Amino acid sequence: MKAFQKKQLPHSGDGIFDVEKIRQDFPILRERVHGKPLVYLDNGATSQKPQAVIDAISRYYQSENSNIHRGVHYLSEQATASYENAREKIRQFINAKSEQEIIFVRGTTEAINLVAQSYGRTFLKEGDEIVISAMEHHSNIVPWQILCGQIGARLRIIPINHDGEFVLDEYRRLLNEKTKLVSITHVSNALGSIVPVREAVRIAHERGVPVLLDGAQAVPHLKVDVQEIGCDFYAFSGHKVFGPTGVGVLYGKAELLDAMPPYQGGGDMISLVTFEKTHYNVLPYKFEAGTPNIAGGIGLGAAIDYLNGLDWDQVSDHEKDLLSYATDELSAIERLKIIGKAKEKAGVLSFVFEHIHAHDVGTILDQEGVAVRAGHHCAMPVMQRFGVPATARASFALYNTREEIDALVKGIHRVLRVFG
Ligand code: ALA
Repeated sequence: MKAFQKKQLPHSGDGIFDVEKIRQDFPILRERVHGKPLVYLDNGATSQKPQAVIDAISRYYQSENSNIHRGVHYLSEQATASYENAREKIRQFINAKSEQEIIFVRGTTEAINLVAQSYGRTFLKEGDEIVISAMEHHSNIVPWQILCGQIGARLRIIPINHDGEFVLDEYRRLLNEKTKLVSITHVSNALGSIVPVREAVRIAHERGVPVLLDGAQAVPHLKVDVQEIGCDFYAFSGHKVFGPTGVGVLYGKAELLDAMPPYQGGGDMISLVTFEKTHYNVLPYKFEAGTPNIAGGIGLGAAIDYLNGLDWDQVSDHEKDLLSYATDELSAIERLKIIGKAKEKAGVLSFVFEHIHAHDVGTILDQEGVAVRAGHHCAMPVMQRFGVPATARASFALYNTREEIDALVKGIHRVLRVFG
């Protein structure tokens, strides 16, 4: 990915990834929880924010706060420039061809709903099929169910294997002349499985079928180049990639976005309004009705600047080490079962005990200062596939350490002492 260029590299010395230095950039990591040092392993739900992002948001409110694209005054021009600058950073970050292809949205969920309602309602019809996988987040299931209910289309599900892997042969089998859209995750939020998206896109395109990728869990861990992957739409959330909540991105190929009607109507998405007819604005503004999350966009731009200052190869090696260390350590715990053993995984370790509910695991870990998510992770069909009501999920970010995994393991032993 072009975004993680090897420049500046403020956190590496002698080619060594300096995680302690990185941790200093994230003030919340110095917090204590229940009198214990915070061990934050719930990055799949949301990542923590570096000081640079917090400063960018606060700077905007302190010295630039103004509405964008509307004012002729100084502050409005400043705010517009900062916001549009962030869009350009995002374009580079995922290597989109043009800024027109970068739509600011509230997050991945809104991005997928936008495609379902705008693209789906315009270009799909009764009897058409939409293909998703069995490891989707609810946000990549429910918008399609709503669309199917509206137009009489049908949802087809690609099964996953017992390791939680995407099976290309099953996928191929499902595609047919009725398939009009594929919408799959890049990395599973509940299992961590990495989907071979380039191959999946190639296979769909051979049949002329466009592909949307849910990149919410991929962008914090993998190099994403939308042109290299070849996908037609790519969605991700700012808050999972060290940026603020309430802002995210829909990438779409310009020719598709151009052909799609607006998702919402209002200010900024128009060029001319009369009571008889409205002319819509050009891309990307056609899809950005109303005053957007200006501070959020600027904060996301700052998060991307922060990531661009890291050596991505080192980040990737560090994260692989964390996942493999955690997998070894947790595998050694009696009666603990890891859910999701894909060969290619990123950042996530889901686990269960037959005799202890995941919520009890999460609650006791919390007492030890260890934050994990416990539940169905907004992926109930994944839980059904593995026959469990819920899992405890440790999800890692670049600032986590082996010592934190040791704290997780110690906490799990405490859970076992409590529940026998
Ligand atoms: N989708 C987020 C998660 O996986 C909230 O936890």
